[in-house]
Amino acid sequence: MNSDLPFTMRRMEPRDLPAVLAVDRMVFTDPWPESVYIQELYFNPKAYYFVLQLDKPEQAHKWWAWRTRSIPELLGFVGMRVELSKGHISTLAVRPGWHGFGFGEWLLLTALEQLIEDGSGSVTLEVRVSNYVAQNLYSKYKFKQVSRLSGYYRDGEDAFLLRTGPLDHGYQQLLSKRRALLMEKLKAWEKEEVNL
Ligand SMILES: CC(C)(COP(=O)(O)OP(=O)(O)OC[C@H]1O[C@@H](n2cnc3c(N)ncnc32)[C@H](O)[C@@H]1OP(=O)(O)O)[C@@H](O)C(=O)NCCC(=O)NCCS
Repeated sequence: MNSDLPFTMRRMEPRDLPAVLAVDRMVFTDPWPESVYIQELYFNPKAYYFVLQLDKPEQAHKWWAWRTRSIPELLGFVGMRVELSKGHISTLAVRPGWHGFGFGEWLLLTALEQLIEDGSGSVTLEVRVSNYVAQNLYSKYKFKQVSRLSGYYRDGEDAFLLRTGPLDHGYQQLLSKRRALLMEKLKAWEKEEVNL
């Protein structure tokens, strides 16, 4: 799951919650309360939550110096649940200032791979109709619109319900190819010269 890049993708732990909640509040207009994460982490055996963190600061010098000059605790997170062999991605977020490098894609890939490992036949998720960035990401992974959920969000905005096709051999091959391309892209970023 991890690479030779200065990042770690790992299961979310209760100690991550302060940083997770902070990012949640930064990117979502209706962030989850801590109780939802606690419920998911402690009491839902079919829930999987991952965090992406920047570590190995000695190797990560270029990355963190370039972006923020300080090491953030957490770059992003993704969460999912499995019910009746169907996967559902419940949350996905990348820390502001770190968008556009491939981290959201890495988190989504991790979720899809986990759901395949768990035996999910397909995956659903909801996305705001105005959220073109996330919709682009999902269409790259062959999510298709199933329906429009009227007033789904607290502020009244509609959601699109999206679903993948079957997570079959062909889909798994797509994930492998996408992962290889993404790792190449991240390594290329790391080689970029940084002018401080
Ligand atoms: C959606 C989100 C997770 C994407 O993460 P990210 O790290 O910025 O995205 P990536 O760099 O991994 O980009 C992956 C794909 O997303 C799409 N994308 C990313 N930035 C985009 C932009 N500015 N405009 C259009 N599409 C974009 C592209 O399809 C991109 O693939 P490409 O690089 O081959 O073009 C991030 O923007 C985020 O946290 N947004 C706020 C929370 C949110 O909306 N979560 C989703 C809830 S459903």
